[in-house]
Amino acid sequence: MNGKIFDLNEYAAKAREAAAEGIVMLKNDGPLLPLSKDTKVAIFGRSQFHYYKSGTGSGGMVNTRYVTGILEALEAEKCFVVNPAVKAVYESWMEEHPFEVGDGWAKEPWFQEEMPLEPEFVEAASKDSDAAIIVIGRTAGEDQDNKAEEGSYLLTKTELNMISEVCKVFKHTIVLLNVGNTIDMKWVEASNPSSVLYVWQGGQEGGSGIVDVLSGKVTPSGRLTDTIARNIEDYPSTANYGDDKRNFYAEDIYVGYRYFETFAKEKVLYPFGFGMSYTSFERKLDKLVETRDKVDVLVEVTNTGEYEGKEVVQIYCEAPQGRLGKPARVLCGFAKTKILSPKESVIVKISCPKYLFSSYDDSGVTGHRYSYVLEEGSYGIYIGRDVRQAEYAGSIDIAELTMVEALKEAMAPFVSYQRMKPAAGEGGQLHVAYEEVPMGTVDPMKRRGENIPKEIAYTGDKGLKLEDVSEGRTSMEDFIAQLSDEDLCCIVRGEGMCSSKVTPGTAGAFGGVTGRLSAFGIPLGCCADGPSGIRMDSGTYAFAMPNGTCLACSFNEELLKELYEFEGMELRKNNIDTLLGPGMNLHRNPLNGRNFEYFSEDPLVTGKMAAAQLKGMDKYGVTGTIKHFVCNNQEHSRNEVEAVISERALRELYLKGFEIAVKEGGAYSIMSTYGPVNGFWTASNYDLLTTILRGEWGFEGIVMTDWWARGNEPGGPADVKNTSAMVRCQNDLFMVTTDSEKNTWQDDSMEGISGGKTARAEFQRSAMNLCGTLMRMPAFLRSRGIETELDKQLKECIEEDEKELLEMRIVKVETETEIPAEWIDTQKGKSTLLQVVLVEEDASRLSFSCRIPSAGELSQIPLSIFRDKQLLKMITLTGKDSEWRTEILDLEPAFCSTYFLKFYFGQSGMEIKDCKIEIV
Ligand code: BGC
Repeated sequence: MNGKIFDLNEYAAKAREAAAEGIVMLKNDGPLLPLSKDTKVAIFGRSQFHYYKSGTGSGGMVNTRYVTGILEALEAEKCFVVNPAVKAVYESWMEEHPFEVGDGWAKEPWFQEEMPLEPEFVEAASKDSDAAIIVIGRTAGEDQDNKAEEGSYLLTKTELNMISEVCKVFKHTIVLLNVGNTIDMKWVEASNPSSVLYVWQGGQEGGSGIVDVLSGKVTPSGRLTDTIARNIEDYPSTANYGDDKRNFYAEDIYVGYRYFETFAKEKVLYPFGFGMSYTSFERKLDKLVETRDKVDVLVEVTNTGEYEGKEVVQIYCEAPQGRLGKPARVLCGFAKTKILSPKESVIVKISCPKYLFSSYDDSGVTGHRYSYVLEEGSYGIYIGRDVRQAEYAGSIDIAELTMVEALKEAMAPFVSYQRMKPAAGEGGQLHVAYEEVPMGTVDPMKRRGENIPKEIAYTGDKGLKLEDVSEGRTSMEDFIAQLSDEDLCCIVRGEGMCSSKVTPGTAGAFGGVTGRLSAFGIPLGCCADGPSGIRMDSGTYAFAMPNGTCLACSFNEELLKELYEFEGMELRKNNIDTLLGPGMNLHRNPLNGRNFEYFSEDPLVTGKMAAAQLKGMDKYGVTGTIKHFVCNNQEHSRNEVEAVISERALRELYLKGFEIAVKEGGAYSIMSTYGPVNGFWTASNYDLLTTILRGEWGFEGIVMTDWWARGNEPGGPADVKNTSAMVRCQNDLFMVTTDSEKNTWQDDSMEGISGGKTARAEFQRSAMNLCGTLMRMPAFLRSRGIETELDKQLKECIEEDEKELLEMRIVKVETETEIPAEWIDTQKGKSTLLQVVLVEEDASRLSFSCRIPSAGELSQIPLSIFRDKQLLKMITLTGKDSEWRTEILDLEPAFCSTYFLKFYFGQSGMEIKDCKIEIV
């Protein structure tokens, strides 16, 4: 604690706590863990040296100051003695087998070649160690799904051999899974290690969190947020996953435990909610209190074991099968206790809204089509450690069919297919039957046509500023009346990546992107990836959080809120208004590459975790853009692949988490997806973005596209230029163009307004959504030059290594731009950072002359030039270079026409002149 409001050590401590709390222990025979102090451990598996802090793609690109991996943490914490001989063998093998980075976007391999183990080597190691730790590492991510192949979802032969050899020889073996999502686990039965732990990808403090659990400093309390089945084929979604064009969600609401507990218990290796502890707990129902809308379950939890620890109490509901058919169990509430000492008890109260017991009738079989209903019968309440072991605690009786909420048809499928439904067989055992999915009857575009808002008459500039709206001097409508069609077209275009108008290296700028818009006092909002920390491609450091799955497995909302308060401060400090996250898609299938960014197969866990993060960030006036709305459930063909899905599955599962984040978490920024759901690309899906999101949930905020996502006309193909189709559905922002005034993507906004495809009033509505949202963001303070006490305090927390970034200059290049010599600080140890903004994604050339005018013959002065953190060239001038010499560096075209150059001088004494960048 250094007295500062934003303390990186406190941040790290909280992240370490979260990384430890997300760890799920699946097995602990002996019990072997916790390891006693000074245990001598032999560590196998190369991932001990290359810890995966997160998965790949936009969600993993956080430039951290450090990452503490497993071996580093084990050595630093000095709890155990690491067998040096084993370590040395790995180190020398890795010299010949370096880490393979992969070449470019989404090219990082899922795994790294593992060192084959000779039995004699393992034998020798065992003689010299008390226990073995085996580390398995995996990655996957954006644009790179997992595959049911060796090296991805399955272990490789070398890895299997490593586990089996080590388990054969060592009495005590611990397998640590440094992975983004659940993987095949059949090898546990085959090799029978003593302990197995999912340690996930725990962010930059991950290794330390692991050691805390191994040493017993922290008793494991993470629980699986997914079911682990025996085979990938056992997941009901697998049969309809991975297509290029269309996936039928035939499993319907029977995702994860909803399927396995209803139909196929025997296929489960580890049930949803499962996770072991060093201690044991007893759960006793204290009271069940039913009121009109909810059931409060009060549970007395007692620590009956020998270690202190936390317990996750889970409440499941078993609804009567009724006419709709229901999963055997649905999670309706959960709570995490505080740390309980041995013998200590606590009573936790878990409120379960009846809304979560109810089902959505999309066929009308109950007589209430398009409504949430509680069918008559007895609703069993189960309290448990996990879904399988949850014990019956009582029930509530619903005497007659009760309508919980009447809604309307929205987002229905228009392609026929069959979906799963339970049918009772012998002895009442449920088995899988199928029924035709109810088809849509309403044309969403007709609905849109009937709900076009009233146009506000254009007034031209009346001198009204956005501040006049916030101060109550004018109405939002009168303010918006001043915007011309051109302004309206510009305001719905976000700019990026790496717009020079906002924090360097971030994903996008929005709002006051043109001179005219900013003259109206419309601020420039800034957004950055997300979700596990801030991505700034400029090289600015940020903090990397544990991944979404790890955080969710903690089942600890309070912890997530506290952790994301730090994130909130970090965003605010960097002038970023919204983090592009949390990621909220369900783990429909273990193979989705982005599962690491998402939380769970269950919508309640997903919604609660997102709400907790949002509340944390909100404390500091910033927010998160929840994504990807909705059904971004695979990366393969993500621009094209259509989710064909029932209204029931959408509402009970895929939309539910988002609904919780909006209603409970107060979300006011959402990102739609790249792909289509039931015929409409989500950015142009009226029912999704207007009927449900705003109409039903009362969302007041903005919707942005995913980056360069497309929209379509009913029945037509999707096009990135189709902004007017997006705006009329209230996808308010197209992300991203390089220059909104120049309309770099040549979108159809202007033709849309003038040709009547989209009403001017609809553009005005999006402009209002944007302005209203920006007024809530720190951007509004920045645009008015207001520095709050909080901002002052945060400014004081700027670290030394961030200062160069604050002084970064922007170099705009149309054809050729001179860089003034005085911009480049040539003093020893100094670096100069430039953000180069080209008009197009062209190749460019950096040239300059340099010399050391007065130096001894043996002097050496090094200059390193980096582009986007990669060393381009190191030039060392010597005493012989007293005359000017010219350096020329040819640079490849830049991603999104922006790149960062850095000059670093190892010694003083060099002079630079005629520095310029030109397009070639
Ligand atoms: C991803 C988003 C991300 C955006 C900006 C897209 O490729 O799908 O999740 O926020 O890029 O980086």
